[in-house]
Amino acid sequence: MSLIEQIDKDKLPQHVAVIMDGNGRWAKEKGKLRVFGHQNGVVAVRDTVEGAVELGIKYLTLYAFSTENWNRPKLEVMALMELLVSTISKETKTLMDNGVRLNAIGNLSSLPEKCRKQLIETIKKTALNTNCTLTLALSYSSRWEITDAAKRIAVKVRDGELKAEEITEDIFGSHLNTAGIPDPELMIRTSGEHRISNYLLWQIAYAELYFTSKLWPDFRRQDLFEAVLDYQKRERRFGMTSEQLN
Ligand code: FPP
Repeated sequence: MSLIEQIDKDKLPQHVAVIMDGNGRWAKEKGKLRVFGHQNGVVAVRDTVEGAVELGIKYLTLYAFSTENWNRPKLEVMALMELLVSTISKETKTLMDNGVRLNAIGNLSSLPEKCRKQLIETIKKTALNTNCTLTLALSYSSRWEITDAAKRIAVKVRDGELKAEEITEDIFGSHLNTAGIPDPELMIRTSGEHRISNYLLWQIAYAELYFTSKLWPDFRRQDLFEAVLDYQKRERRFGMTSEQLN
C-alpha cells in the first residue's frame, strides 16, 4: 500500500506548520552558495503544497523568513527577497490550479515594497480558492506577534472598547496574525534541529512535533505523508488520561 493510502482521511490534521530548515547546509554539501539552497527550497515548497492539497490538508503554514533572518548577510537577505517575489509571481498559476489561497503573517510592513506588492497581488488573485490556505510567515516571529497583539489589546482597554476582565484566550487569539485560522495540530521541522525558533508559540500549545533529518530542499510530499502517518499513530490527550479518551 502506498503511503497516502495508509493515511486515515477522517483523522487528518487540519493545519500543518513547517519550519523549512537546512537550505544553507544542503548547498554547502554541494559546494554551492547558500542561495542555491534557497532556490532548490522552492521545489520542495511546490511539492509540499501540492501534496497538502492532494491529501486534503486545509491549512499549511511555512516559515519563510523570520525576524531574526534580517541579521543574515545583506546579499543573502536581498537574494531571498528577490526569490520570494519571483516565486510568488511564477507560482501563482500553481496556486490557482490547485485551488490554494495565499495568505501571509508577520511584520509585512518591513518587507521591501516590491515583495509586499507581489504578495498583495497574489493574495487578491487567489482569495476565492478553497482547497487549502497557504500562509507564508514573512518577517515573522512569535514574540513580535504576541507583543503586537498585547499592544493592540492595551489600546482597546485604554480607549474603553474592551474591559481587562473580558480578555479571554479566544479574545487574545483573535488579535494574533493567525486570527481565524485553527491552531496547527502538527508541526514539522526539517534538517535534524530540535528547536521551535520563535514560531507560532501560542498556536502550537497542543501541536504534535515532528522532526526529520532531511534538509529542506530534499523534502517532498512523501515526507509530508510520512509525518502525517506518524501524527496519526500518536495519542493526543490534551492533559487528560488515556482512559478518559477511550
Ligand atoms: C532555512 O534554511 C530557510 C530559510 C531561512 C528560507 C526559506 C525559503 C525558501 C524555502 C525559499 C522561498 C520560499 C517560498 C515560500 C517562496 P537555512 O538557510 O537556515 O539553512 P541552514 O540552517 O542549513 O543554514
